[in-house]
Amino acid sequence: MPLQKAMEKESLSFNQLCTIESFEEVWSHYGYKSDFKDVIEREFSRIKGITYLDHAGTTLYPESLVREFYQDISRNVYGNPHSHNPSSRLTHDTVEHVRYRILQHFNTTPDKYSVIFTSGCTAALKLIAESFPWRPPTAAEPASQFCYLTDNHTSVVGIRGATSALGVVPLPVSPEEIEARAKDVAQSEGSSCQTPHLFCYPAQSNFSGRKYPLGYVRGIQARKLYPACDSQGRWFVLLDAASFASCSPLDLQEHPADFVPLSFYKMFGFPTGLGALLVRNDTAALLRKAYFGGGTAAAYLAGENYYVPAPNMANRFEDGTISFLDIIALNHSFDALHTLTGGMDKVQLHTFGLARYTYMLLSSLCHGNGQPVAQIYSDSEFENPSTQGAILNFNLMDCHGQIIGYSQVDKLASLFNIHVRTGCFCNTGACQLFLGITNQEVKSNLQAGHVCGDNIDLVDGRPTGSVRVSFGYMSTFQDCRNFLNFVVDCFVEKPVKVDQEKLDRLKSNTSSKDSSQCLLTMLTNEKPNHIDNREQASTDPVVNEYGGVAITKEAKSHGKAQYLTNIYIYPIKSCAAFEVTDWPVGPLGLLHDRGWMVVNGNGVCLNQKREPRLCLIHPQIYLPSNTLLLQASGMDTISVPLENHNEPHQSHRVCQSKVCGDRVQTVDCGDEAASWLSEFLGQPCRLIMQSPDFIRNMKKSHEKEVSSTALSLVNEAQYLMINHASVDLLQRHITSRQESSDDHQPLDIQQLIGRFRANLVISGLEPFEEDDWSHLIIGSTHFQVAGRCGRCQMIGVDQSTGAKTKEPLLSLSAYRKGKVTFGVYLVHKSLDDSNATLSVGTSVMSQWSG
Ligand SMILES: Cc1ncc(COP(=O)(O)O)c(C=O)c1O
Repeated sequence: MPLQKAMEKESLSFNQLCTIESFEEVWSHYGYKSDFKDVIEREFSRIKGITYLDHAGTTLYPESLVREFYQDISRNVYGNPHSHNPSSRLTHDTVEHVRYRILQHFNTTPDKYSVIFTSGCTAALKLIAESFPWRPPTAAEPASQFCYLTDNHTSVVGIRGATSALGVVPLPVSPEEIEARAKDVAQSEGSSCQTPHLFCYPAQSNFSGRKYPLGYVRGIQARKLYPACDSQGRWFVLLDAASFASCSPLDLQEHPADFVPLSFYKMFGFPTGLGALLVRNDTAALLRKAYFGGGTAAAYLAGENYYVPAPNMANRFEDGTISFLDIIALNHSFDALHTLTGGMDKVQLHTFGLARYTYMLLSSLCHGNGQPVAQIYSDSEFENPSTQGAILNFNLMDCHGQIIGYSQVDKLASLFNIHVRTGCFCNTGACQLFLGITNQEVKSNLQAGHVCGDNIDLVDGRPTGSVRVSFGYMSTFQDCRNFLNFVVDCFVEKPVKVDQEKLDRLKSNTSSKDSSQCLLTMLTNEKPNHIDNREQASTDPVVNEYGGVAITKEAKSHGKAQYLTNIYIYPIKSCAAFEVTDWPVGPLGLLHDRGWMVVNGNGVCLNQKREPRLCLIHPQIYLPSNTLLLQASGMDTISVPLENHNEPHQSHRVCQSKVCGDRVQTVDCGDEAASWLSEFLGQPCRLIMQSPDFIRNMKKSHEKEVSSTALSLVNEAQYLMINHASVDLLQRHITSRQESSDDHQPLDIQQLIGRFRANLVISGLEPFEEDDWSHLIIGSTHFQVAGRCGRCQMIGVDQSTGAKTKEPLLSLSAYRKGKVTFGVYLVHKSLDDSNATLSVGTSVMSQWSG
């Protein structure tokens, strides 16, 4: 690259590089009509301030859709379609019209295809799993084969669960095999073998957005492609269109797949809980059905084994009453989509352009030392909308090339109101392939405690999943710009650089792979921040009383006295702290800590993520009078008895709720507390307390083995402890970052301590030395360390106002690099003394695991 060009770029900031003008230079199909911006503001006002990039999870509905639907169902009386009265006829006719529209959308007609409504794509796939005429092997003919691309959603691979008992051969294949092993003439051409085989593939990978050739449909049916070309029998094709259909046109006349499962929320955002299986009428007669539900029989006898299925394909497979109002809503979904966009060809161009531009910039973005920022998982360079959809899958890397775990990216993205999806997206096949995870590693990761969908993002420094951003028809250039700026702000070691040669190549849409040299353009001259990591103390290991290797406290504390400086209890989960100087230790932790919680009108637990104003409620406990006081500014103080001995009746009923996925048995605290909370929070809610006779045990820790212990309504463990020195260091780090940016939100030490909502604060330590502790003794109470406390955007809630700030999560995340943890969980060992008390000023003895 000419030096002059590089120098010209030096003065540009990344912001200047990422402009609508530069976007339009490489893509001319943005938006639908000149009023695109107004349409977005009018139809999607609810996403103002949010950068929604999870359209592959679900897309969003325009406001006019629900308005039109509401008017429709307010005007018309829709009866059960199985009756024959006028309102039922209206439903029946409208539903038939919707079936017609669905087929029209996919460029086919009712004489070629039938529409079977299901609850979603997965239910459509399950229907095929259960009704495809799988055949076990016989002396004369081979068994059916269930062949699937490894890059399929779990819901497709799961068909295997239904077929394995039948002797059906599962055959996972890669796309390379399908084409490389294709044959012009199929084996045993002309054989009379009728064994049915099924080939399943996604029109678009929900992991990488790769679009697989629609030509596979005819290629497999004609037994030209592998494995159809190598086997006898009849091959049928299931084309999973769930991901593809949301942004791409599908022409079933040209690509007549036998089975096409769909979920409508992915196309329209509304209605949810509705999908369909489109079935070729030629193939339909093949499907078998064992169960018969309401509406599916032409005739049957209650007292004799006699059943004749309904002749109509849809009636035969739609068990019970279909979700008719949702189906009617689809009418308005199609209307809105067409009015706003003009059709799927336009949606495809618009969304692809945004994904392409994001890909181009993200893949050229580098740290100040020249290391790339992102590892992108894709098979294409986003040259063509017929091979690539509007999905971008990647992991971010630090300036040493180490992967940054996806849950860290997710948490920070949430902080900036950027909504992405992380994990492995129910597509283990693609995840393994792109991330290089072996089968053995999947199994050992499970043993290490990682299950699909959790936040264990790195095992031994290697990623277990990734980050996915995906666009929808209402996505804007601002969405892609917000996302790229977020990556630059939070993850790029300054000065930001761009691999200009790569960017130029991607812009010109060539895919030449000969750029060996990375020519980097310096865009800003910002100095990186430097905060020294804590110094590693020299330590003398000794064997501790629990059998592990421990290091004496003196070895690390450099002779400073360690002591307890603060005790906080949080009587009501997510409400303000109640600070005390002496407090009894109860069987579940500090007595009455998280003994209560607030639930909304549907009984769902409220926390500060959902309702930040909870922190403005100040509960206090008065042990002598056995009362819990509720206080908040502008409200009269009320009291609630600590023990609820009332018989369960209407206002003190026993209820079930959930805390961190665990069911908990609770007792309602009555109408007075409920109205007080409802008035203050401005929504119907109730106060509930944990039932005294209900026992909930702590989950098995991923990090440390601890004896199982009983918990209050707390999320993870009985106690959370933080180290004053770690808070000090973090505060210095925040201040130094703020000095180098315009963002001034000074946080004093007390505010910062408040953000971490600890029970115990300890002084006299080195920063972060608590991370490695295994045990500690406070006064005469022995504690075991149950693991480090992972942090999320909740520490962004200012505990005195309820306002959300980006600090301290931003600085903590920058400082901690890998896992964003702060503080440790404790459980107490058996309480010898039932009068045990913790007091401020008590000395603390700690021990380290080796
Ligand atoms: C390609 C693909 N197939 C199947 C599914 C399952 O769809 P649903 O969860 O709506 O049943 C999804 C969902 O993301 C998908 O992307």
